[in-house]
Amino acid sequence: MNRPVTRSRDSANGRAEGRIIVVTGGARGIGQAIVNRFAAEGATVIIGDLAHPGDTHTDLKMHGYAKWVHLDIADEDSVWKFAETVGTQHGGVDVLVNNAGIMSTQSIVDETVSDWDRTMAVNLRGPFLMTKHLLPLMEGRDDPSIINIGSIEGLGANALHASYAASKAGLHGLTRALAVDLGPKGIRCNAVAPGWIDSDLNRGYIDKHPNRDQAITELASLHPVGRIGDPTDVAATVLWLSTTDAGFVTGQVVTVDGGRMTRLSLPTSLADD
Ligand SMILES: NC(=O)c1ccc[n+]([C@@H]2O[C@H](COP(=O)([O-])OP(=O)(O)OC[C@H]3O[C@@H](n4cnc5c(N)ncnc54)[C@H](O)[C@@H]3O)[C@@H](O)[C@H]2O)c1
Repeated sequence: MNRPVTRSRDSANGRAEGRIIVVTGGARGIGQAIVNRFAAEGATVIIGDLAHPGDTHTDLKMHGYAKWVHLDIADEDSVWKFAETVGTQHGGVDVLVNNAGIMSTQSIVDETVSDWDRTMAVNLRGPFLMTKHLLPLMEGRDDPSIINIGSIEGLGANALHASYAASKAGLHGLTRALAVDLGPKGIRCNAVAPGWIDSDLNRGYIDKHPNRDQAITELASLHPVGRIGDPTDVAATVLWLSTTDAGFVTGQVVTVDGGRMTRLSLPTSLADD
């Protein structure tokens, strides 16, 4: 069984009132949940994405405000133009969420140099370029911070994920380096390492299984909390890291995986449940 998500009891308290937030890959999935959470907390959110979010963010008018600006994080010209647009229209950035990412699933034998380079260009060069070009907009703001969306695959690895796992481990390393270098400028930098989150990125795996419900039940059983993750689980942690409640937290990778990485495996014959 996949236990239901417990919804936040303290949402929409204006915890991001008046703040300007950039979320890459905010058009769908985890990024969309991050956009929705910040907007519900009163922020102005700029979605930087290759894809337009369509109508999925229209309900935000009730609280904060979200707008889309075209962005390819792997392309320096695109990042530069994005930074210029945000600077002109908003004058600064309080929180940069480097969320956009792609996944490649193949053996090291089949993976070509261009496949490898593409994963690195989006998952690692992208956050570097975004940080580099948005930094001038963040300096001097009130408790600015950068939050990178890494992965538990930056800590462990699934089969056939060499470039993805390497890129996410690299992103965790970049997070620590930025925390050290930007701390003196008053900018904190942390990463969130999500576990299995129900999004388009990995729904394909479940849908390929002949018995979808069984796949979800088995997946849920790997998690001490009894369920797979929801994009809102990641969004809540990102929000916390952006607030002054996390003002003494920098250079950390916060795992949001329902305890999956913590649980040591046992052979089925010895397991209690
Ligand atoms: N879903 C999971 O279980 C999971 C687990 C761990 C980590 N993550 C990480 O979380 C992040 C979001 O994952 P998701 O599941 O929501 O993915 P998703 O594929 O559902 O959404 C990714 C978004 O990023 C955008 N994007 C892709 N390449 C881009 C580029 N070059 N420039 C700008 N935008 C681009 C896409 O258009 C899309 O809107 C990724 O970094 C992913 O690696 C996801």
